[in-house]
Amino acid sequence: MDSSKKFYVTTPIYYVTARPHLGSLYSTVLADVAARWAKLQDKKTFFLTGTDEHGQKIAQAAEKAGKQPKEFTDSFISDYKQIWAEFEIEYNRFIRTTDEFHVKAVQQWLTALINKGEIYKGFYEGWYCTSCETYVTEEIPTPSTAQPPLCHSCGRPTHFVSEESYFFKLSAYQDRLLKLYQEHPEFIVPKERAHEVINFVKSGLKDLSISRTTITWGIPFPGDSKHVTYVWADALNNYITGVGYGWDEKEFKKWWPADLHILGKDIIRFHAVYWPAFLMATGLALPKQLLVHGWIKVGEQKMSKSLGNVVDPQVLYNAYGADPVRYYLLRQLAITHDGEFSIADLEQKITSDLANDLGNLLNRMITLAEKNNVLQLPAPATWSKTSMELQDAFLKMHAEYQEHMNGYLYHLALAALWKYIGLTNAYFHAHEPWKLAKSDPKLFSEVLSAAAHSLYAIGVLLWPVMPQKMELLLAALGKKLPLDQNYVEQLKKESWNKDFALTKGETLFMKIEPQLAEAKPEELKAEEQKSNEVKGTSSGDATTIKIDDFTKVELLVGTVTACDEVPKSDKLYKLQVDFGSKGTRQILSGVRKHFAAADLIGKQGVFVYNLAPRAMVGLESQGMMLFAEDHAGKLQMVTVGYAVPNGTKIR
Ligand code: MSP
Repeated sequence: MDSSKKFYVTTPIYYVTARPHLGSLYSTVLADVAARWAKLQDKKTFFLTGTDEHGQKIAQAAEKAGKQPKEFTDSFISDYKQIWAEFEIEYNRFIRTTDEFHVKAVQQWLTALINKGEIYKGFYEGWYCTSCETYVTEEIPTPSTAQPPLCHSCGRPTHFVSEESYFFKLSAYQDRLLKLYQEHPEFIVPKERAHEVINFVKSGLKDLSISRTTITWGIPFPGDSKHVTYVWADALNNYITGVGYGWDEKEFKKWWPADLHILGKDIIRFHAVYWPAFLMATGLALPKQLLVHGWIKVGEQKMSKSLGNVVDPQVLYNAYGADPVRYYLLRQLAITHDGEFSIADLEQKITSDLANDLGNLLNRMITLAEKNNVLQLPAPATWSKTSMELQDAFLKMHAEYQEHMNGYLYHLALAALWKYIGLTNAYFHAHEPWKLAKSDPKLFSEVLSAAAHSLYAIGVLLWPVMPQKMELLLAALGKKLPLDQNYVEQLKKESWNKDFALTKGETLFMKIEPQLAEAKPEELKAEEQKSNEVKGTSSGDATTIKIDDFTKVELLVGTVTACDEVPKSDKLYKLQVDFGSKGTRQILSGVRKHFAAADLIGKQGVFVYNLAPRAMVGLESQGMMLFAEDHAGKLQMVTVGYAVPNGTKIR
């Protein structure tokens, strides 16, 4: 296949010690967007992802769970597949390192290297980090009785390993690796990350231990049943076995070398040093590029399972859906840096960027077209000056967007595109089309058509980032995206000559209501008051409800047993509330500025018990605590006259 027409992209394969977290989702979304961007340019793509299931880390986690390793890893696979499906991850193969074809191909690979003299038997003594499954080669081996050095990658204590081992002759590849980095500066993206790799290689490479005798959970080493394969020598090979190496030569030829490996900065050494050396030794072509992303942080810390601060993608999906989360991950986190993940910020971006800027533009345009019976919108024969200026602005943005997408600088690509959405909104408003409908129907139709052309191009360009929502947007314009041509090039060449068949569909993006009614900012409260006055529902003129309406609300007495501040929110407390025989519930309450935690703990209050659970800052609130508010905005807990059993009903 013409190599410029194909695109083979991979994610790291994930250690399956738990369900996927936001860090795994991030690597995987990056790969999905890269694959879709290639598809949009009519390339044949192969997208490989999967799970890393051997080694000491998995064996220990399985033991802790009281399961056999395979039974343990099996138990997470459906979670991975479900979450990837929910987030529209369109992979071609999900590889597991326990797959038979992979195991055999790795053994075949080892045999080939043994036969070539690239692997020899020796003795390894030194420090090992189980969490990273890595030998800490910078440390001089000292007796096992010494204080263990900390792992250079994760900072955890290492342990001493002393065992017979097979070695890969990594030291022989030092010069060839340095030549690779020099001749192919594009090999590592962003290039700043190459420095640490080059320094590591320059400092001298030791041969790499690639087998273990002290563990049994791994691929049996060919010809020596005492040894299992070192987990990284096993795992890295997924990139070739996943496309046929060792079992389908034709398929392998079609896809290898990979165009892009995506990985986090913590595993750069494995991919930029060991992996190319393995491939050089095997006589295979090298991957074209490594895209190395930073970490998602929560506050100051890397988000990780072991730190217990992970954000569950499932919670995000349930609360916001897939596309807004995909958008936020790409827009907010610069691939070149570590970035902070914040629910408040995610919600704000959904409202401002997605609902207000983009969703409203589509909605306003179609609503006006519908009202004025121009749902069949023809392209104007000629365009006025301001419309031509909008087209020019589009072409400028297109060039910028394309350059950044090709360089995986997604945050910059999206910033350029959003600037253009802003220009389209400004164009639309400046023409006041709602006035033109009667006074100048020709210009009215032109303005609608210009907005529709802009939205069409936006929908196409944004498809890799938000596939489902952009397909809806295009459908509202009467268009489809059959991926049968290079759309990116096409958009550049096209003059605006499309007819549109508009349909008013469902709202594309919902604004996120401030998640916490009781903690609304003062301005919002004022706004609400104003709009209530207009509607005649201000407190002085309250509409009445029937007794049936009131009895729908289940009010129960409960005792606050714990009260913790919610990080990432300056208003919220996370309460544990005891409802007696009805159990304990987690309830979030935005009253931090009114009460110290000690004021609430141990107190009996009144709660709305049957309020539908709501997600706030990534946590679920299962009810609402009631307070009395005086004119000055001072709150008092709603209590009962004297202590009653928890779970008592208010009626
Ligand atoms: N199994 C190895 C990879 C083998 S690839 C041949 C591994 N697995 S991992 O599950 O620990 O990590 C997989 C990927 O998730 C890495 O790229 C890692 O950087 C990424 N992330 C894990 N936590 C992360 C964040 N908090 N933020 C961003 N990505 C992070 O390493």
